Amino acid sequence: MRNANVKIQGARDTAKQLVAAYKGLLAMDESNPTCNKRFAQFGIPETAEARRDYRELILTTPDLGKYISGAILYDETIRQQTSDGSSFIDLVIKAGIIPGIKVDLGTTDMAGFPGEKITEGLDGLRERLNEYAGMGLRFAKWRAVISIGNGIPTETCIATNMQILAQYAALCQEAGIMPIVEPEVLMDGDHSIMQCYDVTESVLKTLFYELYKQGVDLEGMLLKPNMVLTGKNSIEKSSVTEVADATVKCLLECVPAAVPGVAFLSGGQDGEMATNRLNEMNRIFKSRIPWALTFSFSRAIQLPVLEIWKGKEENKIPAQQELCYRAKGNSDARWGQFDFAVEPEREPDIFNYK
Ligand code: 13P
Repeated sequence: MRNANVKIQGARDTAKQLVAAYKGLLAMDESNPTCNKRFAQFGIPETAEARRDYRELILTTPDLGKYISGAILYDETIRQQTSDGSSFIDLVIKAGIIPGIKVDLGTTDMAGFPGEKITEGLDGLRERLNEYAGMGLRFAKWRAVISIGNGIPTETCIATNMQILAQYAALCQEAGIMPIVEPEVLMDGDHSIMQCYDVTESVLKTLFYELYKQGVDLEGMLLKPNMVLTGKNSIEKSSVTEVADATVKCLLECVPAAVPGVAFLSGGQDGEMATNRLNEMNRIFKSRIPWALTFSFSRAIQLPVLEIWKGKEENKIPAQQELCYRAKGNSDARWGQFDFAVEPEREPDIFNYK
């Protein structure tokens, strides 16, 4: 056991606040190439200005702070100014949301291991984290990706990525920044839900051993895992209950109770499906889980919003209403209270636009 110094205590406080009742996180930290790829799908110009306008649209959505506790930003965004010349970090704080930042520099091919990736960004990370802390960012995110396929993942790929994730987490806590630790087992492929379970279990067990070895304070971090799912090209289909069951069972086997919260990534699932699955986990297992089970979605919340916005000013309000609807649905799902079957329409009174 480790005594909490001021910085560790700060990380613990941030983790607790991020998983506060009824709230979850919004990942809006897409790198420029990823954001441009999403924009291209909807005919939105792939420019720094459009990225700024879109992120301003998100963060000026009325009532967003009722459902969203933290926003994960991207380095470009925190150096841009909003249309009235203020900083994005101030805009997030004004919305009642805690600002965080993606600090990994993306993935690259792992040398000697065809088909596997390694995440880059440890070099100079201490300096970047100190700069971010000075700017008022209170938490960070690092994503490692693990693919399932013929002969993969290898033990080496899992061990190397988890070791790097643990080093990142230790550096964050040293800087007083709360690390979100994101090991993502990808949905790509035709694997079964059991294969996903086995790989996720091995990844999480390796991760927590590495976090232990590197002295990471578990109360001062959050886990951002994948749900346990069948591969997206698999002919096997799993029900919402099967996914909820497999996912929570796997987490119970692997994630220590000291971790305050688990905030899922959506990983390319359909938005409503991701919400339904989160809802089912909380509905069935509420009394058995030691951590908060919440969301840290990007695509599951944002794709429907982009589809409405399409880069046009006249679509801004309907796009914000959609964003609020998605955020509220996921907030309801935190308590097993989301009922898609009886809530197909947007709530008309969420907004009070004049
Ligand atoms: P998705 O919800 O789209 O998977 O994104 C979450 C995220 O932060 C990926 O790093």
